Amino acid sequence: MEFIKVNDYQDMSDKACSLMIEAINRVENPVLGLATGSTPEGLYQKLIEKYSEGKVSFKDVTTFNLDEYVGLKREDVNSYYRYMKEKLFNHIDIEMERVHLPNGTADDLIAECKNYDQKIQEAGRIDLQILGMGINGHIGFNEPGTPFSSRTHIVDLAASTREANSRFFPTLEDVPRQAVTMGIATIMESKEILLLVSGEQKAEAIARLAEGEISEDFPASILRNHPNVKVIVDEGAMIKLNE
Ligand code: F6R
Repeated sequence: MEFIKVNDYQDMSDKACSLMIEAINRVENPVLGLATGSTPEGLYQKLIEKYSEGKVSFKDVTTFNLDEYVGLKREDVNSYYRYMKEKLFNHIDIEMERVHLPNGTADDLIAECKNYDQKIQEAGRIDLQILGMGINGHIGFNEPGTPFSSRTHIVDLAASTREANSRFFPTLEDVPRQAVTMGIATIMESKEILLLVSGEQKAEAIARLAEGEISEDFPASILRNHPNVKVIVDEGAMIKLNE
């Protein structure tokens, strides 16, 4: 695991953007794994800027998002489908048939999970997976205790995750209690992983990622076993690292 230390959120987003464009331009028909949340918003903004400057095209890109809330329709203001459209897809030349997010309103959610894994398998691989990290070490919505062998599955969101995400909803009660998430085994099969971490509220999690043990109690710790992970981390998130 390589730590790339940057000053702040903007620098983190710039660095992630250039590594992502490099990957898109290096690989034929690239397959990207994407995340939502606050962390990658700056990255998506930069990608849109680079696209409008003609520095990158997404027309041959396939994407798989990590997760989606259960019970929110695609057009819901808080669905991750809507987030991705508004923050990235509406502004670039991606073909929407090549965009994938789990469907959190499928009648049969278990079949939807299988179907999602199947589609990833058909794509053959994820070339570059973008990740954020929860304060409890979750990646995707794989909360502490999720088996490292997990594939796409339905999760009960941890109280701390619902609370952290309540900033997007009118009240805590409105935050969905479940989500569908890509599993840890699938994330670990990505050829390359870029974990973005910014801000003091993540400092404890970064210290645990760098110095703690590899354990299902802290899902992100498994990334230490992956051969090609870059963690782009800003000063705020590094304050608790022993150097
Ligand atoms: C989002 C996701 C989550 C977030 C994590 C951090 O698709 O998979 O793991 O990356 O909750 O969220 P932010 O970036 O809002 O701090």
